[in-house]
Amino acid sequence: MKLSGKSARSDALIGRMNLSEKLGQISMLADGLVETGPPGPHNPFNMIVDGRVGSLLNVWGAHLVREAQRKAVEESRLGVPLFFGLDVVHGHKSIHPVPIGEAGSFDRQLWEATARDSAIEAMADGVHMTFAPMIDVARDPRWGRIVETAGEDPLVNAEFGRARVRGYQAPDAQGLMRLAACAKHFCAYGAVLSGRDYAEADISWRALEEIYLPPFRACVDEGVAAIMPAFVDVAGVAMTAHKRLLRDMLRARWRFDGLIVSDYNAIAELINHGVAADLAEAAALALNAGVDIDMMSDAYFNGLPIALARGLVSMDDVDMAVRRVLNFKEQLGLFDDPYRNMAHKTAKSATSKPLAPERRALSRQAAQSSIVLLKNADGFLPLKAPRMLAVLGPLADSPNDQLGPWASAGAGEDAVTFVAGLRETFAQTDVRYAKGAPFEGRDEVDLEAARKTLAGADAIILCIGESRLMSGEAVSRTRPEVPEGQLELARTALESGAPVILAINSGRPLILPDWLVEGAQAILAAWHAGTEAGPALAQILSGACNPSARLAITWPRVTGQAPIFYGIRPTGRPHDPQNGWSTGFSDAPFDPRWSFGQGLSYTRFTRANLRVDRDTLGLDDLVSVSVDVTNAGVCDGVETVFLFSRDPVAQVTRPMLELHDFTKVALRQGETRTVVFVVKARDLCYLDEDRKPRLDDGAMQFHIGASARPADLDRIDVTIAQG
Ligand code: GLC
Repeated sequence: MKLSGKSARSDALIGRMNLSEKLGQISMLADGLVETGPPGPHNPFNMIVDGRVGSLLNVWGAHLVREAQRKAVEESRLGVPLFFGLDVVHGHKSIHPVPIGEAGSFDRQLWEATARDSAIEAMADGVHMTFAPMIDVARDPRWGRIVETAGEDPLVNAEFGRARVRGYQAPDAQGLMRLAACAKHFCAYGAVLSGRDYAEADISWRALEEIYLPPFRACVDEGVAAIMPAFVDVAGVAMTAHKRLLRDMLRARWRFDGLIVSDYNAIAELINHGVAADLAEAAALALNAGVDIDMMSDAYFNGLPIALARGLVSMDDVDMAVRRVLNFKEQLGLFDDPYRNMAHKTAKSATSKPLAPERRALSRQAAQSSIVLLKNADGFLPLKAPRMLAVLGPLADSPNDQLGPWASAGAGEDAVTFVAGLRETFAQTDVRYAKGAPFEGRDEVDLEAARKTLAGADAIILCIGESRLMSGEAVSRTRPEVPEGQLELARTALESGAPVILAINSGRPLILPDWLVEGAQAILAAWHAGTEAGPALAQILSGACNPSARLAITWPRVTGQAPIFYGIRPTGRPHDPQNGWSTGFSDAPFDPRWSFGQGLSYTRFTRANLRVDRDTLGLDDLVSVSVDVTNAGVCDGVETVFLFSRDPVAQVTRPMLELHDFTKVALRQGETRTVVFVVKARDLCYLDEDRKPRLDDGAMQFHIGASARPADLDRIDVTIAQG
């Protein structure tokens, strides 16, 4: 979107606006169908007629949105339409898996398709902007918002972000953008100290450039309409006031000409950051950094008049922010048709109707593609015509919790639970259920009921983990583990002697005790898999669906390993289990429980014939890295293949592995396909000590395989020779 440009309509409106109306346009207020931050002192509905607000968030449903729009268009002095924003993060009415799970599908087409579906549902409810994709690289399971990210890898977050922008912003029949995407939170929010939400992110410029900025650059290149700065300070500079990164880099160098929307109350919170003495200074810092819209802090409305009087900001800067907002509304078609997306005059939300079958089907496909099979001892799964199944745990029949946090308008009554899904899929099986334990605490642990339910079971399906409220914003945990009461239930299940299938439902890689991992016959990471989680898991357990998901996040054994990720640097003493003087821990293994990219299938894939089409590369050369992948197992399946590089000798120390690409390949039983990755030598460059791209002559390694685990990778080297 190009929003700074001249527009006759916008310029005319700006010319007619008084200061209060201008500041109203750059103020976004929440009208609480859902609470996503500290409630404000005002009722925004009553402020529309005075032109005191330019956009609303957290309200949806054509009947509500339409009335607010009518007040703005028909009762305010200048009749400027509102726009409406909402966190449509993983679905609007039909809910898809939480992003940490869907990222594990490694399926660009799916990421785009679910975003497009969300946009269709959200625009039917009068929503114009989603505060998504959230592409904060995250590597610490203590951080509650890891649930919202596409995991630990910059490339995966970048590709996820691109696909989401394409899906959300795909044009409707009139050629207008369905849903404006707002990439967030710019940037390095995932690097918060100790995983504490809102804490400082004290990181190097190299980490910024190599890890946290690339996903946002990708979204800007993909045409994202808006960016939301993070709450945090990065090396002491609060992102909401970060001139160098917002104005000088994002706008000037990257040429981003969309909207910059503050996070909720973030401008006023510059006072808490200790960089503004009052609201006027806070407002001036944000405006001068390039923030166009003040979400919910009143800093612009109440602080800018004083800032103007003090000469801290110019009216031109105010006008530029107003212009971008007005041009945004114009490009959404809201001046020509303010009631666009609000045609439904039904008494309830347009999406209150039953979910369309195609929406439900996509939600199920997304869940099937996101549930990761992590253990399957002795090929126990898929289940073979069990006579009786016992389903235990607080997540087995909890429709709201399976939707996960940030579930927008998703309703539990639309969700199909694990118990219901199992009964539907295993129609000839006696499927029994007992909750057995609460999410937290031990008061309601009922092991007697569990024992009665599991007696005689051919298998136990243990659905434990986190409720939807145990991850997400402001829910960082010092012990990201399965709560004690649920572990007591797990012990009871294992003591029964029946095979236990462990389905972990969570917004993060939960810490699991060794006895549970060793005792379970099979383990699946189901995350919060959304509306159709039940049928999706059931069809995986029955073999109707062969699991293909992989982990987009490294899974720690113990919290003390965090932050943990595959792309670590080697250090002077790379980990060597035979050498007591090497990097690692004295009280825990060095390696994670499961690595980035791990995930099992019911079939088996092999790789052979790894090759390159040239051994030597100059700076402007391309190289094709190919490998033959064979489905050598018992059924059709889908393999994910990753291409990493390793620069063994460079001017600065380089990560043990860097992801360059990934792809999925569907193979029938016995089929072989050649997977080819084309790599530009320039993409192997790194930033030298002067932050200049550099590539050194000498060896360059390519590692190709099924995960970041060394055992899953094959290596081939080329030589860089730049002549
Ligand atoms: C919240 C979140 C942000 C969200 C916004 C609006 O505080 O930080 O991700 O988009 O407020 O709900």
